[in-house]
Amino acid sequence: MKIAFFNTKSYDQAYFDKANEAFDIPINYFETSLNADTATLAREHEAVCVFVNDTVDAEVIEKLAEGGTKVILLRSAGFNHIDIEAAEKHKVTLLRVPAYSPHAVAEHALALIMTLNRKTHKAYNRVRENNFSLERLTGFDLYGKKVGVIGTGKIGAIFARNMQGLGCEVVAFDPYPDDELEKQGVKYLELDELFGEVDIISLHTPLNDKTHHIINSHAVSLMKKGVMIINTSRGALIDTKAVIKGLKDGHIGYLGIDVYEQEEQLFFKDLSETIIPDDMIARLMSFPNVLVTAHQAFFTAEALTEIAHTTLQNLQDFADEKSDLPNEVKR
Ligand code: NAI
Repeated sequence: MKIAFFNTKSYDQAYFDKANEAFDIPINYFETSLNADTATLAREHEAVCVFVNDTVDAEVIEKLAEGGTKVILLRSAGFNHIDIEAAEKHKVTLLRVPAYSPHAVAEHALALIMTLNRKTHKAYNRVRENNFSLERLTGFDLYGKKVGVIGTGKIGAIFARNMQGLGCEVVAFDPYPDDELEKQGVKYLELDELFGEVDIISLHTPLNDKTHHIINSHAVSLMKKGVMIINTSRGALIDTKAVIKGLKDGHIGYLGIDVYEQEEQLFFKDLSETIIPDDMIARLMSFPNVLVTAHQAFFTAEALTEIAHTTLQNLQDFADEKSDLPNEVKR
């Protein structure tokens, strides 16, 4: 089976070529992202490999199936960008990488918190310009603060433990509480209750109908003044307009995001010579207490190695017609 690999970056090719030494599967790397116009590139490739910002809607899936694609390999955990129904209709199997390094994402959430709090990004620039003043660099002790974790799956559970390690009190909301975490002192609350109690909120739920805009103006109105909101999960968990309002009136003290509602047009691209037409991201980046990273929470050597290996193993299992495909995405 041949793979049409979309949205290729240099690091993708490096890690996939290395992992592929054990599989020897032919891979055609395309720099372009997958969409209705580029789907024809996958003609006569039984496998297509996509990332989170590729378009994999009904139209694209139909075109891929017409061209002979039998399997779509998601080199991601999240699959909210895939039309699962259309894939089933066209008998295209979907295989993902459910976990590569939950530590990578949990640690990036902590990096956002630390940077926003202690302003190391500003200190770095100041000192390089011989400005050794401490004015406006005041932070706060994380020790003793209350942290709310929304979604305590693989990533959220690690994040919760990491925060406990720093001496924070951790509370959580998840429709399926984790007994182990509870034994370790994490208290589950109702969502509205959590919003009202915590100093820091970190989002670790998948994006679905129930979690879309889970941070909206109602949620913000319940939060403590000066709250820090961290999102390393999916952009649309946050209603960006509501959060901008909260930042403008000072209710939200800090915002750290690795994902953004409209990120498809921006992230993973070098747009440094371009006028950005998205006024919302431009407004967000104008706040001194907002930190944006471009979907890099997963981006560690360990995670890239695991993503490449699991993706190729998924295809190998599919090609071997294994009856049990544990990483298959179904409705
Ligand atoms: P997981 O499936 O292990 O955990 C998700 C948790 O969310 C589960 O415990 C589930 O019960 C809970 N949940 C479901 N609906 C909920 C709701 N309405 N309210 C609160 N909790 C709810 O997923 P994992 O591996 O922990 O990943 C979480 C998310 O992180 C992924 O869905 C993905 O969107 C994001 N992610 C982001 C990456 C990045 O680079 N920024 C990389 C990898 C994942």
